[in-house]
Amino acid sequence: VRAPSALALAASFVVAGSACEGVLPAPDLERMLVQRSVRAYEAAPGGGAAMRTPPAGTVSRARPLGRPALEEGVVDGRFVERVQVPVDLALLDRGRDRFDAFCATCHGVRGDGDSPVARAMTLRKPPSLLSPPVATYPPGRIFAATTAGYGLMPSYASVLPTRDRWAVVAYLRALVLSQAVPLDDLPAELRAAALEALP
Ligand code: HEC
Repeated sequence: VRAPSALALAASFVVAGSACEGVLPAPDLERMLVQRSVRAYEAAPGGGAAMRTPPAGTVSRARPLGRPALEEGVVDGRFVERVQVPVDLALLDRGRDRFDAFCATCHGVRGDGDSPVARAMTLRKPPSLLSPPVATYPPGRIFAATTAGYGLMPSYASVLPTRDRWAVVAYLRALVLSQAVPLDDLPAELRAAALEALP
């Protein structure tokens, strides 16, 4: 058998090439599966583990620095006494939305600690957020628990940005207030409606 001449080979490529015109080349998936990589704790070229410790003094870009009241809810070892973002109806709405999505599963939609998940928890149950002691916590303490986690409860900082966590704290304040508020504290029209509704 004679080897095909260079010319014949070249011609066959041209034909094959033109047959595929307008068709995307098949993706080279193998290249993605087989690639050089190291696992987090494996030795890396150049020494040390693959997952490096950030150099000393590295700061996260995700966190505004120097604002512990806003970011941690704690200043000089004391929980802050106020919600650290301006509170308006939009913030409370956002807080309700986030609370229902991320907290109600355990603490209950009403925040009273009753939920199907809570009923099934055996070790330590999520407390009611509407009664003491939690109801009387300064806002900073609730923010801190949500930010860093508390005991069995995980941190929600990765899913709730700073403003959302304060929104949840503000909404919880509103929930607590909604349980019992002196009639005299209500705006006139709400007081009238409440008096009408009361037995
Ligand atoms: C997976 C269930 C679960 C979810 C979801 C959850 N919690 Fe908790 N939470 C708990 C449990 C359990 C405790 C009690 C932890 C303990 O005592 O170890 C707790 C405790 C707390 C406390 C008391 C902290 C303290 O200092 O005493 C607060 C406040 C709180 N949660 C708020 C929230 C908020 C706000 C959210 C939503 C962002 C949330 N939790 C979501 C289970 C949950």
